[in-house]
Amino acid sequence: MSFTPLPIELVRDLDRAAGAPIVELGCGEGRLTRCLRTLVPGVIGLDLQPFPTGIDIVADALIPPLRPASIAVIVQGNLFRHLDDGLRGLDAWRTALTTTGTLWILEDEPDMDDGPGALYRDLQRCLDDLVPQRRGALMSPARFRNALSSESGWTFGRVRNREASDSLHLLLTGLDAWAGTTPEAARIAAAIRADGLDYGHYWWARWSVEDTS
Ligand SMILES: C[S@@+](CC[C@H](N)C(=O)[O-])C[C@H]1O[C@@H](n2cnc3c(N)ncnc32)[C@H](O)[C@@H]1O
Repeated sequence: MSFTPLPIELVRDLDRAAGAPIVELGCGEGRLTRCLRTLVPGVIGLDLQPFPTGIDIVADALIPPLRPASIAVIVQGNLFRHLDDGLRGLDAWRTALTTTGTLWILEDEPDMDDGPGALYRDLQRCLDDLVPQRRGALMSPARFRNALSSESGWTFGRVRNREASDSLHLLLTGLDAWAGTTPEAARIAAAIRADGLDYGHYWWARWSVEDTS
C-alpha cells in the first residue's frame, strides 16, 4: 500500500500536533486518513467528492474552508497531481497553518527503471490512458521542485513502500473488463495475479514556516 511506512518526520509532526486539528486534503474514501488516525485520532478528511466513507468536509482543496492559523498539520497523499495547478493552493494551505504547523505532500513515485515499482508505474500509465477523466499522471519530485518559486521552508524525502496492497480485487475486476480490448490491461492483470503489486517508492515534501528563517 502507498505511504507505508509514513515518513518518520511526519509521524513526529503528528505526535507534536496531537490534540490540535489535523486535515487530510483529497482523502478519497479514507485509506490514508484511517492510517493517520491510528497515530492521532480525529484527523479530518476533506475531498471534492462526497464519498460514503472517510469524508468530513466536501470542498475544493485549493480553496479549503479552514480558518486562518487553525490547523497543526495538513497532509495530502496523491492529491497534488490531480490539481490543475496545485501551487495555487499553497497560499491558502500556509494561511490555514498555525505558526508551528506543517504542510505535507506525499506522491507515489514507482521506479522509473525496471525496479520493484515498474508494474505499478505501468498500471498508473495504463489507467491514465483508459480513464482520461481520472487525470493525475504521476508527478516526479523534480517536476514539483522545479515548479516552486523558492525552496525556503521545504524539505524533501523518498521512502520505499514496505506493504503490498491487500485490496486488489476491485482493481483486477476493472482491468479484466478492459482486458479484451486493451492488451496492456490484460498483461498488467496477469502480472499482478502472478506477482502481486509492489508500490515501489513514494516521495514527500514538507513545508514549515519555522524552517523558512
Ligand atoms: C488518488 S485519490 C487519493 C486518495 C487518498 N488520499 C489516498 O491516498 O488513499 C485523489 C483524491 O483527490 C480528490 N481530489 C481531486 N481534486 C480535488 C480537489 N480539487 N479538492 C479536493 N479533492 C480533490 C479526488 O476526489 C480523489 O478522492
